[in-house]
Amino acid sequence: MVPKHIAIIMDGNGRWAKKRFMPRFAGHKAGVEALRCIVRYCANKGIDVLTVFAFSSENWRRPEEEVSLLMDLLLTSLQREVRKLHDNNVKLRFIGDYHEFSTKLSEKIKQAEQLTRDNTGLVLVMAINYGGRWDITQATRRIARQIESGELNSTQIDETQIHSNMALHDLPEPDLFIRTGGEQRVSNFLLWQLAYTELYFTETLWPNFKEQAFEIALDSFAKRQRRFGHTGEQVERLRGA
Ligand code: IPE
Ligand code: IPE
Ligand code: MG
Repeated sequence: MVPKHIAIIMDGNGRWAKKRFMPRFAGHKAGVEALRCIVRYCANKGIDVLTVFAFSSENWRRPEEEVSLLMDLLLTSLQREVRKLHDNNVKLRFIGDYHEFSTKLSEKIKQAEQLTRDNTGLVLVMAINYGGRWDITQATRRIARQIESGELNSTQIDETQIHSNMALHDLPEPDLFIRTGGEQRVSNFLLWQLAYTELYFTETLWPNFKEQAFEIALDSFAKRQRRFGHTGEQVERLRGA
């Protein structure tokens, strides 16, 4: 079974650089190369959606210099890659509170979304200044506004209603979550959306995560039985039917 939607925490850039006695930023640059490789792979394999965590709402806590270099890298990578992604039929989407970014960066983000909006290939979602708690908070605020305006009644609030106000609501839910870099935590990534996602953790540092490592993750996913609360026997029966 091939996942439709893969969500990745691209972690380990800093440690990759440290091992090579290089500045952390060199690791982030190498990380962009790894992302390019994985995007190409997903596009070729016919994966529908790839969501990657590029900058978390907590990453502002890093040294000012690293934050500013990361912003520069994001901007230059967009400037360099958007055209090519568009030529390859990739649809770019951004989730997160990126309005806090420089006007130049948010303009570039809007342009990239606009340019690629009608593409029908891989949907590449970049999570920047994203946090799962932020996502739940903004959904709650939207629902509250609908109640205030009389559009909605509190008894109408159910999971579907909440879901429709969350980021990625219009896309299939993530089937596979991958975190590179060895940490086994979610770090405030997609909290709502990961409810039934298969989790995969690898020691491989993100800049080293290329086709081969990715295939191992896909193989691990293919071997799993997703039960969604059913028994294993029920799932077998449903599959056989
Ligand atoms: C992930 O790599 C990239 C971002 C958070 C932007 P890290 O920079 O967290 O790398 P490590 O975890 O320090 O190795
Ligand atoms: C998560 O990685 C965020 C991104 C990869 C963008 P971190 O390296 O920031 O996560 P923690 O701080 O180790 O949990
Ligand atoms: Mg990290």
